[in-house]
Amino acid sequence: MPLTGFAAALLLVACSESQTAGDDPRADPRDAAKVALGARVYAEHCAACHGAKLEGQPNWKETLPNGRRPAPPHDDSGHTWHHADRVLFAIAKNGLVPPYAPAGYESDMPAFAGKLSDEEIWAALAYIKSRWSRDVMSIRAEMFGNAAGK
Ligand code: HEC
Repeated sequence: MPLTGFAAALLLVACSESQTAGDDPRADPRDAAKVALGARVYAEHCAACHGAKLEGQPNWKETLPNGRRPAPPHDDSGHTWHHADRVLFAIAKNGLVPPYAPAGYESDMPAFAGKLSDEEIWAALAYIKSRWSRDVMSIRAEMFGNAAGK
């Protein structure tokens, strides 16, 4: 599957996402208990690939020799924040499968269904969101037309 296919799919997703709220209360970055749980989940299950500081893999914009994509950062410098919470949740739970990637898309992003509970996945997202800057949160609020980050 050419990468352009995935890029195009993400673009479609980004457009349809703008119709709905971006933030889900289950991934509330202001909920300290949730963020604390999420930090533990992140350290144990996400940091190995996405970086202890959410910095992603080195040269994450370059395709690997095997044709797959490296793990992108989850901080402001990546594109995770371009997506609505429910999209991030679906990717973390099911991996990069339709509707958020083309059928047959090959990726190193694992599906966490069966390994983490829904609550743990939402908590990991709350933790990731707690690290986004005020600027990113206000851009999201404009993108999604809701009260993100307020
Ligand atoms: C084994 C390595 C690995 C682990 C562990 C991992 N990821 Fe990923 N993740 C990836 C890779 C690689 C990608 C990019 C895949 C692609 O584009 O084909 C990715 C992509 C993502 C995306 C899409 C990001 C975007 O900006 O579009 C999300 C969301 C995500 N991961 C969340 C998580 C969460 C949450 C965890 C921990 C619960 C986690 N990942 C653990 C490798 C990993």
